[in-house]
Amino acid sequence: MLCRSEQQDRARADRASIPAVIEESLRLFTPFALLGRATTREAELGGVTIPADQMVMVWLGAASRDPRQFPDPVAFDPGRAPNPQLAFGHGIHFCLGAPLARLEGRVALNILLDRFNPLRTDPDDPVEFMPAPTMTGLRRLPLI
Ligand code: HEM
Repeated sequence: MLCRSEQQDRARADRASIPAVIEESLRLFTPFALLGRATTREAELGGVTIPADQMVMVWLGAASRDPRQFPDPVAFDPGRAPNPQLAFGHGIHFCLGAPLARLEGRVALNILLDRFNPLRTDPDDPVEFMPAPTMTGLRRLPLI
């Protein structure tokens, strides 16, 4: 949204669209891309038998870019409906703080849009991500 001016203009004009912008950001830039699980008994997953007492690494970031669920998965499209992204996990350990994180995101993004117009990334000084495959976060976000 910071590099696509029309998407930012849309969110600026229609603040009710901000929750969808946040869901799409969580999908495309899943903060914790990898979770670990241990099998307590033999299990079958996607046609593969996994023995008991094995570590299973679950790539939430990859699942949230599965083209069978998300057409054109690498495109930032806040208009996806539904958007069943997995950034907060799934099942009994679903993130307890998800409502708070979503609320904080809404507050922060609204304040940024209120205070800075326009808010753009710099094509001559691109963003830098942290060099960690399992966690997604920015090291530098130069804005103009
Ligand atoms: C964007 C922000 C956040 C993301 C992406 C996130 C992501 C996650 C994920 C993926 C899990 C599942 C872990 C698993 O299944 O092993 C989780 C669990 C959890 N999260 Fe978050 N989280 C965020 C913010 C927060 C906040 C703000 C809080 C607390 C104020 C919080 C508290 C927890 C707790 C307590 C659990 C464990 C739930 C359980 O095991 O039953 N999270 N989170």
